[in-house]
Amino acid sequence: MPALLSVRHLSISFHERTVVKDISLDIPKSGITVLVGRSGSGKTTFLRALNRLNEELSPCEVRGQVLLHCPLTHAYQPLHGSEPALAGKPIQEKEPAHVNKAEHAKESIQADTATQNPVDIYQLPPSSLPALRRTVGMVFQNPNVLPVSIKRNITLPLALVAHCPQGELEQRLEQALRTCALWAEVQDRLHAPASSLSGGQQQRLCLARALALQPRLLLLDEPTASLDVFATQQVEELLRALGQHVPMVVVSHSLAQARALADRIFFFSEGSLFPVEKDDYASNAELAALFRETEQQTICSPQPAL
Ligand SMILES: Nc1ncnc2c1ncn2[C@@H]1O[C@H](COP(=O)(O)OP(=O)(O)O)[C@@H](O)[C@H]1O
Ligand SMILES: [Mg+2]
Repeated sequence: MPALLSVRHLSISFHERTVVKDISLDIPKSGITVLVGRSGSGKTTFLRALNRLNEELSPCEVRGQVLLHCPLTHAYQPLHGSEPALAGKPIQEKEPAHVNKAEHAKESIQADTATQNPVDIYQLPPSSLPALRRTVGMVFQNPNVLPVSIKRNITLPLALVAHCPQGELEQRLEQALRTCALWAEVQDRLHAPASSLSGGQQQRLCLARALALQPRLLLLDEPTASLDVFATQQVEELLRALGQHVPMVVVSHSLAQARALADRIFFFSEGSLFPVEKDDYASNAELAALFRETEQQTICSPQPAL
């Protein structure tokens, strides 16, 4: 399958300590790639490297390349019926989207047409980083809802980051919430503070917010780590369905969850990455031990009939 993102000999050091070591990996254009590994093995640092978030947090040295094989999303992308994230299973209640492509110019860095001419994200100027982080979106371990209403959690970034026209905000809001199976739960309290939602609802709101910005790739760092069993099940089901339409890289704290979600699994150990055959984790002693420790901790929901 063609790559959407190619990581080449990526190493990351903080204060001269290398925590990601010479990783090369292709993220395909579809499906869910899951990263597992012990705490401190470098999973989050690696994930953050894929949209250059590490440098926002503390000084770090990055060597190697992260090549993006699609254009950066700079301007507002008008609604259209074939929007991949919105064509999927979670939006059973979906209504036809309006199309008015002529009204909104699409402006992208056409730095590539395919894999021949990808963008090395570490060569991008700072002015392109907002577009990079829109193209490669991220959802964090703890739901980081904005301290505003449920509605404004979606519409603020849509207006400010994606420059969505005022007239489309309501429709976008509803679509995003339906996509993440939240609409029915919140439609009568859109003006309530987002912080009044349960943990699972907040995480689904964060997912809706990220998807509303039309990412080409979504990064999720232990998205269910702070959730109870029921909310974990809901988010896992949602990710399985959304993963059919938006490629994802998911860090998981549990190998059982990884096996339930993943199209491919990689194991992090002390900053290095190893591919894992889904049913062959027992061949790696460290991985087998990790699996034994985590399998009792996470209850994964059964595969939904998609
Ligand atoms: N901003 C940072 N500054 C210094 N060290 C960091 C920073 N972020 C992560 N590290 C270190 O890098 C190592 C890997 O961390 P992390 O990527 O968070 O691992 P994981 O997500 O697998 O638990 C840890 O030793 C951690 O202390
Ligand atoms: Mg982590």
